[in-house]
Amino acid sequence: MSSIPALTAPRGDPLPPPAHVAIIMDGNGRWAQARGLPRIAGHRAGARAVRRTIEAALAHGVRWLTLYAFSSENWRRPQDEVSDLTALLRHYLKSEIAELAENGVRLRMIGEAARFAEDIQASLRDAERVTAGNARLNLTIALSYGGRAEIIAAARRIAEAAARGEIDPARLDEAGFASQLFTAGMPDPDLIIRTSGERRLSNFLLWQAAYAELVFLNVLWPDFSADHFAEALTDYASRERRFGARPS
Ligand code: FPP
Repeated sequence: MSSIPALTAPRGDPLPPPAHVAIIMDGNGRWAQARGLPRIAGHRAGARAVRRTIEAALAHGVRWLTLYAFSSENWRRPQDEVSDLTALLRHYLKSEIAELAENGVRLRMIGEAARFAEDIQASLRDAERVTAGNARLNLTIALSYGGRAEIIAAARRIAEAAARGEIDPARLDEAGFASQLFTAGMPDPDLIIRTSGERRLSNFLLWQAAYAELVFLNVLWPDFSADHFAEALTDYASRERRFGARPS
């Protein structure tokens, strides 16, 4: 009779640190509400948590950090909250870029940049240009980003290229498809963290998350600290990643 594998299989060595950590920064509104403050106060405190998180990623030698700052769906929030968020982004881009550049951070943006005001688009382009030579930490901010819209845009470009006879649909593979996503050239996330106790992906990196480890933390984003970052990395290190293969 064949033996039944133990439910708690002995684990191998801890995983090496994740190369790419992506974060769904959730809970700014609840943080503000709990304090009787306007939602923008939560977003401002969230921006300070972004700063702490970048420092933590640098300290842990994480090479890729992707932050979900504004989803395609966030445009549907009340107009004053959208203006507050875009004003905060405008301020952030002006105030933080020099320091990011000094710390070897390369900034990229993924999402529908064209939906933002022209001056924000220009600041994003400047920030990408000024930091383009950096390689210590690749910081990607997802802005007006939606995973399904990203996949549809890629499929449309590929279909158009096929209709022009430039590519053979039979030869399309995963790498070819991924090369048409906003994240072309980036590694897939190894670890996705979501704060605030919610346990969903909310249209974030749907293609790229195929084999990501997920960590959900019961902390509201403005309270996220270096200790929470370290806790998520420790949890990740204890996982066994098989990428669909059998346990060894
Ligand atoms: C989710 O909290 C957070 C957002 C929609 C915005 C995220 C923005 C920041 C962290 C600050 C700005 C960042 C940069 C890079 C400048 P929520 O408002 O959905 O919270 P709730 O679920 O408690 O209402």
